[in-house]
Amino acid sequence: MIPMDRILLSSLMLFFVASAQAVDGQKVFTQGGAQPGATACLACHGGDGLGLAAAGFPRLAGLSAGYLRKQLEDFRSGARSNPVMQPLAKALSDDEIDAVSQTLAAMPAPIPAPINRSSVAEGVGARLALRGAWERQVPECVICHGPGGVGVGDAFPPLAGQPAAYLVGQLNAWRDGTRRNDPNDLMGHIAKALSPEEIAAVADYFAKADSQLAKANKQEPKP
Ligand code: HEC
Ligand code: HEC
Repeated sequence: MIPMDRILLSSLMLFFVASAQAVDGQKVFTQGGAQPGATACLACHGGDGLGLAAAGFPRLAGLSAGYLRKQLEDFRSGARSNPVMQPLAKALSDDEIDAVSQTLAAMPAPIPAPINRSSVAEGVGARLALRGAWERQVPECVICHGPGGVGVGDAFPPLAGQPAAYLVGQLNAWRDGTRRNDPNDLMGHIAKALSPEEIAAVADYFAKADSQLAKANKQEPKP
């Protein structure tokens, strides 16, 4: 006969294995993780995950799960430093990070206009975004971040629709070395080559990229 305590132990173990696999990403987003420091994401990133522009909190909805996971791991390791997100990422379990990254990636987000190198570029921001400044080895942003800054795969995050203040903050973080999570220092090189005025202009350009599309879509069809 199998002793009772053995049965109890194995069913307990089964319970823990099952609950570890079944972390609910939506719950982490709306209620936070199991540990007290793992505050609910929606408090700062918005109920729709599109961020809070006025506060400079970034949009997470529709970003790739791989990119989100990497950023949370970079906050944990300190390769990307931020007083709010570092302790928060440390309070999340690996399973919670996986689950919430999948949930966020599946949330709807605005699709920016497919503007690229062949589009008209008026002004400092648009010129940097669409043409770059090759005399300083600065490629156009859309070459890596995709047409309109829509983002490409797990490596290149979207810029379109991110709050201007957030984009400026990240470019400055690369300049001063508090964000150094870019293996080939692609962004470190680019950020250091730009003036503060250029950073403000290109951030403003991408922050407005999705509303430009919204405007285009609202145009009445010709009768
Ligand atoms: C108290 C406010 C707050 C809460 C709660 C919060 N965040 Fe953040 N989050 C921020 C701020 C501020 C930043 C920008 C950090 C920076 O400037 O580097 C950020 C940045 C991020 C980024 C980087 C985005 C990018 O485009 O690189 C990820 C990923 C992220 N948060 C995930 C989460 C997740 C997942 C949760 C919920 C478990 C969460 N955050 C909860 C404030 C918050
Ligand atoms: C050669 C490729 C490349 C080019 C060109 C490029 N980027 Fe990036 N950028 C990256 C990579 C890779 C990352 C993500 C780094 C990481 O893993 O955190 C990134 C991330 C960013 C982020 C952080 C986004 C977020 O969600 O936190 C900003 C802001 C940014 N780039 C702005 C720009 C701007 C502005 C330009 C044009 C002046 C530009 N990039 C051109 C490769 C590039």
